[in-house]
Amino acid sequence: MPTPAARTDALHLRYPDGTRALAGVTTAFAPGEFVAVLGPSGAGKSTLLRCLSGALSPSEGEVWFGDERIDTLRGEARRQHRARVAMIFQQFHLVPRLSVLANVLAGSLGRDRSPRTWLRQFPKEAQAEARGHLARVGLADLEERRADQLSGGQKQRVAIARALCQHPSMLLADEPIAALDPRSASQVMDLVAALNRDDGLTVIANLHHVDVATKYASRILGIRDGLVVFDGPPSNLNEAALEAIYPTPPPLLETA
Ligand SMILES: Nc1ncnc2c1ncn2[C@@H]1O[C@H](COP(=O)(O)OP(=O)(O)OP(=O)(O)O)[C@@H](O)[C@H]1O
Ligand SMILES: [Mg+2]
Repeated sequence: MPTPAARTDALHLRYPDGTRALAGVTTAFAPGEFVAVLGPSGAGKSTLLRCLSGALSPSEGEVWFGDERIDTLRGEARRQHRARVAMIFQQFHLVPRLSVLANVLAGSLGRDRSPRTWLRQFPKEAQAEARGHLARVGLADLEERRADQLSGGQKQRVAIARALCQHPSMLLADEPIAALDPRSASQVMDLVAALNRDDGLTVIANLHHVDVATKYASRILGIRDGLVVFDGPPSNLNEAALEAIYPTPPPLLETA
């Protein structure tokens, strides 16, 4: 197997209040893979993504990106890791009062810390690039609109354009369509699938809906109680596997 894009080795995470969220997760993600993470509420899906992004440090175990161990990085080295791993969220996390274009440009802040960007005076090239990403997500005509005047689906597409400005090595998506209507959800998933397919972007997505996961991902990771209880292609996700992942019948998005 080629060097994984990322891997975790015996990852344990206990929050400060004592809650155990990960109980020994060992897995690897190949470059260009589209992995859907499934599991009941509280299983540890978001915690796993936060460990990969460098937002959280595991209590035990290791996280590697390529041949670099990242869980032990501190300061500027950790910031650089976080800048190249893009995340999108259920609640979009845009700056509501800023324009669409300004929100997208914010994605370039992590990788370009020259004084001009620090002063929010973005170089022409950065602006041109941001406009290109906005066109790619189908929102070229909305660059001046305030972010809080967009629909949910549009907000998520702005968040994806912002992620592209990071030049990410990986896209981590935490319930990216949980707040969207089915049509917007399909648009967002189709867009993420296109980035995976056309740019080779490695995608790891926590998803709530089993049918969406099996439609888009090439591999399913099932998590329950902080442990991997299923790992395989969607075609192997049979009834027994679903019972291992979910204590009660899993949710379906009827119109997907
Ligand atoms: N900041 C925190 N402090 C303490 N416990 C936490 C914290 N964040 C999450 N947890 C707990 O850790 C466990 C795993 O949470 P996590 O958010 O990773 O689950 P999840 O699989 O993403 O769930 P959901 O599907 O509801 O988003 C849960 O028991 C949760 O209550
Ligand atoms: Mg979560």
